[in-house]
Amino acid sequence: MNESRTPLIIGNWKMHKTAAEARSFFADLARELGSAGMPADVEAGIAPPATALHAAAEGQTLGVRVYGQNVHWATHGAYTGELSAAMLTEAGAAGALIGHSERRQYFGETDATVNQRLKAALAADLQAVVCIGERLEDRKSNQTLDVIARQLDGALADLEAAAVARLVLAYEPVWAIGTGETATPDQAQEVHSFIRTHLALRFGAETLAAVRILYGGSVTPENVAILLAQPDVDGALVGGASLDAGKFAKLLHFR
Ligand code: PGA
Repeated sequence: MNESRTPLIIGNWKMHKTAAEARSFFADLARELGSAGMPADVEAGIAPPATALHAAAEGQTLGVRVYGQNVHWATHGAYTGELSAAMLTEAGAAGALIGHSERRQYFGETDATVNQRLKAALAADLQAVVCIGERLEDRKSNQTLDVIARQLDGALADLEAAAVARLVLAYEPVWAIGTGETATPDQAQEVHSFIRTHLALRFGAETLAAVRILYGGSVTPENVAILLAQPDVDGALVGGASLDAGKFAKLLHFR
């Protein structure tokens, strides 16, 4: 973490929680936070399923930002199952995840579709959280940094530096997602620092100073502090542990 960047912790609920469950999560979260409330120096977000977006955005006064789990590139059209940026905004979302590894792995998302979705999010003023990360076989064959560079270049194709400056990136090694296996703080720092350098070379160091790079993959209240102590780790994208209000409250109060 670098003190010039406010830490950002986003819970990705994936396909968990109905609207009613989202409401009770926020009631529980308020209770778990107690008199300490939300930490003043941390930004918090939750990416619920689309059907719970509105309930999550309206059902709390904690100031937790709400994110879509994806966003389509078109404003409207014959795209069964997809959501436009305007639909997300209307439901109360302030941003959207883009290119999560589960979208890439199970739903054929590619760097090119990530790029299109990202452009739509930026055009609509949604805070885009672009997810990248290598698979186990990439890491074993020493391809990690090549894969990351390729994903970054594909996702950010044709973007101006000013647009890149508004992004949040999430480095999530696929082998660490939902497996209980976490990248070591050194492994995370190595890739985060590579991402920052790679983008600085392409878009200018000044642009990059503000871009937050989150780590994701089996983050828990137990390991969050050590991960966020790394100089280029600016927050966390948390799956499993974010489903529990008590754990999410602890994650927010990692300091
Ligand atoms: P996990 O998921 O924390 O359950 O590993 C992280 C993610 O997929 O964003």
